Amino acid sequence: MKFSSRIEECYQSPIRKFHPYMVKAQAKGRKVLHLNIGQPDVDTPPAFFEELRRFGESVLAYGPSPGMDSYLEAVRDYYRGLGVDIECDDILATFGGSEALQLAFSCILEEGDEVLVPEPFYPNYNTFIRVAGARIRPISTTPEEGYRYATREKIEPLINEHTRAILATDPGNPTGVVLTAQERRLLVDIAKEHDLFLISDEVYRELVYRGEELSTILSFTDAPDHLVVIDSVSKRFSATGARVGALISRNRELIGHALKICQGRLCAATLDQVGAAAMYRAMTPEYYNLVRQEYRYRRDAVLAALEKIPGVRYERPEGAFYMMVTLPVEDADKLQYFLLEEFEDHGETVMYAPGEGFYATPGKGRNEIRIAYVTNPAELTRAVELLGLGIAAYKAQGGK
Ligand SMILES: Cc1ncc(COP(=O)(O)O)c(C=O)c1O
Repeated sequence: MKFSSRIEECYQSPIRKFHPYMVKAQAKGRKVLHLNIGQPDVDTPPAFFEELRRFGESVLAYGPSPGMDSYLEAVRDYYRGLGVDIECDDILATFGGSEALQLAFSCILEEGDEVLVPEPFYPNYNTFIRVAGARIRPISTTPEEGYRYATREKIEPLINEHTRAILATDPGNPTGVVLTAQERRLLVDIAKEHDLFLISDEVYRELVYRGEELSTILSFTDAPDHLVVIDSVSKRFSATGARVGALISRNRELIGHALKICQGRLCAATLDQVGAAAMYRAMTPEYYNLVRQEYRYRRDAVLAALEKIPGVRYERPEGAFYMMVTLPVEDADKLQYFLLEEFEDHGETVMYAPGEGFYATPGKGRNEIRIAYVTNPAELTRAVELLGLGIAAYKAQGGK
């Protein structure tokens, strides 16, 4: 059978590629500690489950295609709490940030178009953009630059007649980079000057560790047609299974086009929106502070453990719950095979996400890994210790 070239050119998630080797290691009785998975273990706010228990309807019916009023109003009020004035008509309820990304790309991209994305990037962007017929043109960064990319020198030479959008992830997965106010301003200016969409994926908004105010690109009101925000309850409320997000833009033409797709898929999940609205209503600054503090402990545990490994390089991540680490080996894939097939310390070994899959430029990221610091500090410390022991063992048997 023939399949589309668009789907043939997508690849499987680099985060899951070592799964079969993990299963084999476990079958040998090894305990595998995870630095690779972005699934937080922080509790989902009880308001979600309480609201579902209260749900009194006898029919689980379709909701409105743009989203249920209670959910759209909750999102609008949350943004108003950030000092941003948006209307419910600027918001579409989606199946997570993932569907919001797909809606945006479906509405703005044609075959042959390009989206500028700083690399390393969240690998699913490649799938969504490719399926929409376009390609990623990477804005290259290096570990030495702390993966920062928001400069005219880096971005403007990449803009050509095929460029439709800049996609920023702020705070960043996998780098943990948080844009400064000046960098955000610059991205908005570039988008305006070159008539591009600026799609800002802000699903990790609350997870920032320098004590700064929460921010969104929507606080810039001078480029209403250019700015698009991708949002989600997944990380904000540690509710990844709720599958509720939002596409937000003051560009009503964009929302109108995206609504056609929303009407095609009828509605986002009713119960998940009901629970999400309750979480937004119940949330307090204290809740966010606690969650932020928890992730800061976890990050600091990872940083303290990394310091003990000779030859690793990394920047202190400022946001989200990920960081990139450069290892003192040539190929992080080979080391991962070794860790799962040959290495163990007291019956334990470790998994990470090899860096190459986060890059579009061939060969880049081969000696890098992404660490997700989403488990408890003791487990993270042990996992990083295992990484250090594993590197030493790999080198001792001639690994490069
Ligand atoms: C940067 C980024 N954007 C979007 C998503 C999509 O999340 P969801 O569909 O659960 O909202 C993720 C998930 O990990 C992510 O890391």
